[in-house]
Amino acid sequence: MCGIVGYVGEKQAQDFCISGLKRLEYRGYDSAGVVTLDEKGKATLLRAKGKIANLEEKLAANKREDKIGIGHTRWATHGEPSEANAHPHQAGPIYLVHNGIIENYKELKEHLKEHKFKSETDTEVLAALVNSFYKDGKYPLMNAVVQALKLVKGTYGIAAVSTKSPDEIVVARSGSPLVIGVGHDETMLASDASALVGHTKRAIYLNDGEVARLTKNSIEIKTLNAEPVSAKVEEIETNLAAIQKGGYDHFLLKEIMEQPESLKETLRGRVNVKEGIVHLGGPGLSETELRKIKHLVIVGCGTAYHAGLLAGYYIEQFTPEITVETVIASEYRYRNAYIPKDSVALIVSQSGETADTLACLREIKKQGVKTIGIVNAIGSTIAREVDGGTYVHVGPEISVASTKAFTSQVIAMVMFGLTIAQAKGVRPGTLKPYVEEIDKLPEAIRTTLESVRKEVESVAKKYAKYEHAVYLGRDTAYPTAMEGALKLKEISYVDANAYAFGELKHGPLALIDDRFFEFALVPEGELYDKAVSNVQEVLARGGHMIVITNTSKFDLPVEKVIKISSDCKLFAPILMNLVAQLFAYYMTLAKGNNVDQPRNLAKSVTVE
Ligand code: G6P
Repeated sequence: MCGIVGYVGEKQAQDFCISGLKRLEYRGYDSAGVVTLDEKGKATLLRAKGKIANLEEKLAANKREDKIGIGHTRWATHGEPSEANAHPHQAGPIYLVHNGIIENYKELKEHLKEHKFKSETDTEVLAALVNSFYKDGKYPLMNAVVQALKLVKGTYGIAAVSTKSPDEIVVARSGSPLVIGVGHDETMLASDASALVGHTKRAIYLNDGEVARLTKNSIEIKTLNAEPVSAKVEEIETNLAAIQKGGYDHFLLKEIMEQPESLKETLRGRVNVKEGIVHLGGPGLSETELRKIKHLVIVGCGTAYHAGLLAGYYIEQFTPEITVETVIASEYRYRNAYIPKDSVALIVSQSGETADTLACLREIKKQGVKTIGIVNAIGSTIAREVDGGTYVHVGPEISVASTKAFTSQVIAMVMFGLTIAQAKGVRPGTLKPYVEEIDKLPEAIRTTLESVRKEVESVAKKYAKYEHAVYLGRDTAYPTAMEGALKLKEISYVDANAYAFGELKHGPLALIDDRFFEFALVPEGELYDKAVSNVQEVLARGGHMIVITNTSKFDLPVEKVIKISSDCKLFAPILMNLVAQLFAYYMTLAKGNNVDQPRNLAKSVTVE
């Protein structure tokens, strides 16, 4: 969602802010703005609705050499996307950008009668509140920000500058990330470390309840209660190549195609094929603690939720006496769910910042249940708040639709399940096939992607005329079908829904007509014959079916069969999902939509 950048140093702040905001574009936004200050404090505020390109046009006519500035991409929550609602917001000498939601903004506004509000945003209320404590520069900016934040209820990551002190930026966070980039004679800030890549490798991740004053060569951090904080400087691991398209037309295609490598990163040092075991250091649970686990609760949103569902099916296959419940975070946080003490919760999130998932994590911790993160973004809030965790290490995922993270999340969770099963003394013979297939999976992914890409492209073009789709599968292929349908819906805007094959007769069969096509996953295995019967049911009603299978046995006269590698049988759904990912990509290209930034969606959903 919204993105924040800022710069104070010797270089042009406008350039830094625009290039930083472009790096954050992937998060989703609908307007953007930048303010810079010259040495005397004269402000240049530029804001535009729509893409950053619109802001750049304004910038071309207002180029400034100013060496301090803050910028923002906004994803509308309070008030429509418009120039007036775009950040930075001004109140007297104060300019402020904000991610998150000020819940009590109406109440606060009541007491700010002196300020003439120009927008409908909660952020302008915060700017006015800071200004009311700033008293035209009578008090230090940092103090004014602290006083204001003490009255705020809600979540925020903010950056503020003042025309009265054009050499400092004050930042603060509570529930919305903020990273400070430490340079030589320059200090930067961003809501996401990717905006800092290439400028510095040294970063300070601000914690909730902390506020910092940044100048070009100093960083002072304290808590809202005025306790000084000694900053921990961490290394930014991401490199420039990881956040560029690398020759692909879209990040989505790049991320789909890099899955052999990204999964290898997830597996690195964690799989011992010879002994048929996996080893995860991160969760930090002893053998005794692992043996005691009776229940797993898996929490996530969107694709992370689907990854949890699929992993749950696998974990049940090989782990005895354990229940697995995968839940949608936005629902779970308000359920009055009892979690037995012998449970462990897996908190799944690519970004590590999803508001609902984070809220569940905090709720579950309150109940005294151990939490394990399955997270990609290093140093993210969820990664820092869980009791232990396994990073999936897939590198930055830029396209809004999640692809490589899904594959690695599933496998990381399966490996966690295997760790429990190992501790519980499950026969190595039962677990070895899973370990062997996990080890082979990156290569199977490579061959599958290579062999099906062209074919999927031409099939997707043919089906681009449809507006409705039904995705179908059984057992592990069912959550996979759910993820496939989500991918198609997210980026091609086709109304795609997934059903368990067994549910066909309970409703979805009524949908089958010429407006719909069906995308069915039919892997070889125990339930193969049942899935084939279901395919027949659809065919008999005139369905327009595409079947993805890994066996040559399949010979029904459906419109299209896409045969994938049969190298990994247990994890065939993961390979089938690659077809669904490519299908969604090519269908979206054919429809001419924005592949990487679908309308109305954001990569990291940091508000509820
Ligand atoms: C958003 C993204 C999805 C993602 C979901 C959960 O909706 O567009 O791609 O699956 O959030 O995100 P997380 O970062 O928690 O995995």
